[in-house]
Amino acid sequence: MSNAFVSLQKLSLAYGSNIVVPELDLDIVEGELIALLGPSGCGKTTTMRAIAGLMAPQSGRIYIDGIDMTRMPANKRGIGLVFQSYALFPHLTTFENAAFGLRLKKLPQAEITQIVERGLRAVGLDRLADRKPAEMSGGQQQRLSLARSLVMQPKVLLLDEPLSNLDARLRLEMRAELQRVQKETGITMVFVTHDQSEALALADRIVLMNNGIIEQIGTPDELYGAPKTKFAADFFGFENIFEVEGNTIKGAAQSLPLGFESTSKYLAWRPGAIDVGVGNFSGIVRGSAFAGEQREYIIESKIGQVHAATPAADPSYKIGEEIVFDFPQDHSLPLAR
Ligand SMILES: Nc1ncnc2c1ncn2[C@@H]1O[C@H](COP(=O)(O)OP(=O)(O)OP(=O)(O)O)[C@@H](O)[C@H]1O
Ligand SMILES: [Mg+2]
Repeated sequence: MSNAFVSLQKLSLAYGSNIVVPELDLDIVEGELIALLGPSGCGKTTTMRAIAGLMAPQSGRIYIDGIDMTRMPANKRGIGLVFQSYALFPHLTTFENAAFGLRLKKLPQAEITQIVERGLRAVGLDRLADRKPAEMSGGQQQRLSLARSLVMQPKVLLLDEPLSNLDARLRLEMRAELQRVQKETGITMVFVTHDQSEALALADRIVLMNNGIIEQIGTPDELYGAPKTKFAADFFGFENIFEVEGNTIKGAAQSLPLGFESTSKYLAWRPGAIDVGVGNFSGIVRGSAFAGEQREYIIESKIGQVHAATPAADPSYKIGEEIVFDFPQDHSLPLAR
């Protein structure tokens, strides 16, 4: 048995005969904020539904706080859910929406008042306790949805793209809010997003999924700085990813000598890592854009398109001009697959 607070073990999830998540293993530590990140359709919501008990796994086990929850009904798992659609009761006030679950539990009125007031304060809604959902902004409704889950003191809080309906500014505010609430309450949270910057900003650890499979698990630093697979590198903004074999770099049409020996299947470079103005490769500038501190180029070369960036103070190249460049070994990122 692992010491994980939430442990998914060889979890297989299917709709009918269509297996969308095969044999997923994931351990989550108590108090962690985990981001499930990945492209649309990769199985994020499906995984959340299984943790919550809204769908039965085909095989595998789910443990929460040491208890086998695999066959436990959803309402006995101690899990809170915040989904993209807030599903607030339109005829109830903020206070009554937040109190709803506690009333079902038949807690005494004084206790309910105390817990709800504290919960609304935590999300900054204590002054809007008498409003109805229709009288509140999207962000306020989102916060109410969060408060409604928090007051139930769940062991685990699952949030499925809870910020996707918000505009950019509100989203930033809610991100900070979530992080603060999480640190204050210490509740273990699993947060689904397909926005890498959101995952990088919020999570203690990121679980990057692709086609139902975990590509990589790590801290935001690890995933951003050292993605291990081609998919992960691509997802985190490495624009130049090439297949290599020994000392050759393989383009779509042609292979060229790389200038050093590599044992990896792929090598990747961020645009800023490409040497410009020196080197054994050449191409034609097809795009040139000023981007504040640097200038970005799209270069068409014999091995395909290369994205490069140079400091804005360096001499610049015009579209149509020939440019020489190089792939430096010391700034390359090796990828196993
Ligand atoms: N109720 C369902 N019946 C059949 N197939 C489903 C059902 N729900 C989801 N799927 C399929 O399962 C796969 C995973 O879907 P899921 O909703 O988990 O993706 P997701 O990662 O949450 O994507 P998104 O970012 O778009 O929300 C998809 O291929 C989807 O078409
Ligand atoms: Mg989803």
